[in-house]
Amino acid sequence: MAKFDPSEKKISVAFVCLGNICRSPMAEAVFKHTVEKYGYSDYFKLIDSYGTSGWHIGESPDHRSSKTCRKHGVPVNHAAQQISSKDFSKFDYVIAMDQSNKEDLLHMKPRDSSTKVNLFGDWRRDSKFQKIVDDPYYGGTSGFETNFEQLSHFSLEFLKSEVGEI
Ligand code: 4NP
Repeated sequence: MAKFDPSEKKISVAFVCLGNICRSPMAEAVFKHTVEKYGYSDYFKLIDSYGTSGWHIGESPDHRSSKTCRKHGVPVNHAAQQISSKDFSKFDYVIAMDQSNKEDLLHMKPRDSSTKVNLFGDWRRDSKFQKIVDDPYYGGTSGFETNFEQLSHFSLEFLKSEVGEI
């Protein structure tokens, strides 16, 4: 039994990393895919991703990130954007990949905002996954695979915590 009626409220979520080309577009893609797979699209208004930096604005996801998603049957479609304090009003949750992203977001969050700022790893239930989604940019492809496995686990646990057991 779902926790709420999606005709009365819907959830909006932003995933945030540093560049918005590796981890957070993957998180957005994996979470959207999880929501669709379990039939909960109705429960979400907006699922998006951002970087704390503006270094890659307008760029498509890093080819290693999109390749890893495609390999697992997860479609990716995103253009990098930088988050700012005015974006918080659009989201119930702004979810960071690592501690540095989270600290930057907490500094940026408007004082009167009730948006929750979390690490995605806060929803971890299986300790075989590390809570922090490490920056894979300067490493090899195995970093992207590890990111994908973490993001799949966190996505399912986050979805369950929002909508109830699925
Ligand atoms: P992301 O990875 O934060 O997961 O998108 C990075 C992408 C680019 C850079 C660093 C991290 N960079 O230094 O340009």
